Amino acid sequence: MKSPALLLALCAAAQGLSLHQPRDGHPRVLQLDLQRNHIPNPVAHDRLRRRSGTVNGTLDNMQTLYFLNVSMGTPAQDLRMHLDTGSSDLWVNTARSAMCSMRSQPCSASGTYTANTSSTYAYLGSYFNISYVDGSGAAGDYVTDTLHVDGHDFTGFQFGIGYTSTSAQNVLGIGYPANEVQVARSGLKAYQNMPARMAADGVIASSAYSLWLNDVDANTGSILFGGVDASRYSGNLVSVPILQVDGTYLEFFITMTGLDMGSNPVGEQGMALAVLLDSGSSLTYLPDDLTQSVYEAVNATYQEDEGVAFVPCSLRDSGTSMTFHFSSPAAVAVPVREMILDLKDLTGKDLSFDNGVPACLFGISPAGTSTSVLGDTFLRSAYVVYDMANNEIALAQTRFNASAPDVREIGGASSPVPSAAAVNTPVAAASGLPAGGSDGNGKAAGRNKNGGGGVVVPSAVLVGVLVGVMSFVV
Ligand SMILES: *[C@@H]1O[C@H](CO)[C@@H](O)[C@H](O)[C@H]1NC(C)=O
Ligand SMILES: *[C@@H]1O[C@H](CO)[C@@H](O)[C@H](O)[C@H]1NC(C)=O
Ligand SMILES: *[C@@H]1O[C@H](CO)[C@@H](O)[C@H](O)[C@H]1NC(C)=O
Ligand SMILES: *[C@@H]1O[C@H](CO)[C@@H](O)[C@H](O)[C@H]1NC(C)=O
Ligand SMILES: *[C@@H]1O[C@H](CO)[C@@H](O)[C@H](O)[C@H]1NC(C)=O
Ligand SMILES: *[C@@H]1O[C@H](CO)[C@@H](O)[C@H](O)[C@H]1NC(C)=O
Repeated sequence: MKSPALLLALCAAAQGLSLHQPRDGHPRVLQLDLQRNHIPNPVAHDRLRRRSGTVNGTLDNMQTLYFLNVSMGTPAQDLRMHLDTGSSDLWVNTARSAMCSMRSQPCSASGTYTANTSSTYAYLGSYFNISYVDGSGAAGDYVTDTLHVDGHDFTGFQFGIGYTSTSAQNVLGIGYPANEVQVARSGLKAYQNMPARMAADGVIASSAYSLWLNDVDANTGSILFGGVDASRYSGNLVSVPILQVDGTYLEFFITMTGLDMGSNPVGEQGMALAVLLDSGSSLTYLPDDLTQSVYEAVNATYQEDEGVAFVPCSLRDSGTSMTFHFSSPAAVAVPVREMILDLKDLTGKDLSFDNGVPACLFGISPAGTSTSVLGDTFLRSAYVVYDMANNEIALAQTRFNASAPDVREIGGASSPVPSAAAVNTPVAAASGLPAGGSDGNGKAAGRNKNGGGGVVVPSAVLVGVLVGVMSFVV
């Protein structure tokens, strides 16, 4: 955890920022460090997530992505949470579930919560059920207890307990309350999830946070609730509207309007594609035809069985960037090296093409029939402010390995993110929004197994890999 003292380093405003100074002169923000973990198979992980809504935990050795620490109850029980911008409930495992009580102790790394040892626990009802298309997920009780986060206590905080669970990871969903399970499934009113509760309690001034994931070689990142850290991006923040799904703000969809490889545009002119910003997705998923154009531009080898593409690892040295455009002037340049991930086979051997050239996983895969997702291979290059109070996403080019913090508070619901200029003409999405509403978890269902069926890039063949589990090296 960051010491609060670090957060007080308010530097001189550089470019006419609208700073919000609370009464005591300290920005109302709460910053948590994130840790990135090993994922045995990020591709399978993503595919299962996208298909079903959240985490398919039946892969009981699966480690998810960015984690942070909280504790719950009295006395406090330590929990490691998987941070997820793509869902909206906090839920925890409990030691006595069939999964957590297995001899292999799959839940030991993330910790579990025991209701009957907490004096501040209270039962709400047995209608907690995050369920996935294949029937996997977690179900049990909605309860309340005291949530402890970085020295703040949130009493009577509502969350779910997975008495039946197929995911060893506790999940901290920080999306819109309207996307909570009890709203979608039980027709109940939304409750205050973590960002909403922080705002209601005045720990932060409005329901907004900034997410900074360091570069692909680092294992850390941080989330800043209620604030923006100007040391962690370059240029200006530019804000674009969040797109509604069926008239409701449910998920972090924005309109992508173009993609360049170096200085050459890739894909159709006049693109207006709805894309989901999802910290819970390792890879980026784009429409099949656009993905194919990208593969051609980087000479990637598509592996249809796995739905992923490989490139020579030496592409890391290319120095080229891919620029993702949103409504002008919002844009983020992703260095191609940030798109290149090491994979090893089960025996720990590096992958190679049949000519012996080392092969690396490429960070974009075809979306098939699913919505497009900008996952961590994109997000690490972006500084992203998720402003639920104003239904805006503010974006800037990230600054890797930033050091001295320069934290500014995001103001109340009526004021936009400090220093973020709105785009002049926001582009509405012409395609890509989920059709026919949500599947109950709010996420678009239906990544089909061979989601990339339309992409054919015949090229070199990989040597005897991709059978069984691959290991993702961070
Ligand atoms: C979470 O807690 C564990 C155990 O104390 C510690 O090793 C880890 O570094 C912490 N992670 C973060 C992101 O603070
Ligand atoms: C979840 O993982 C299990 C085990 O790998 C698999 O059998 C199941 O089909 C997966 N669920 C989905 C939705 O793909
Ligand atoms: C609390 O629950 C655990 C696990 O189910 C059980 O072993 C224990 O006896 C319970 N303790 C109390 C005080 O009820
Ligand atoms: C949770 O919901 C799923 C799908 O609606 C259902 O199949 C399952 O039985 C439910 N689980 C519990 C424990 O109620
Ligand atoms: C950031 O720091 C990590 C670890 O110290 C280093 O490996 C990486 O190259 C740095 N990244 C940049 C872009 O400077
Ligand atoms: C693309 O990859 C193929 C097979 O690995 C190789 O023969 C060819 O030279 C590459 N082309 C470019 C432009 O890099």
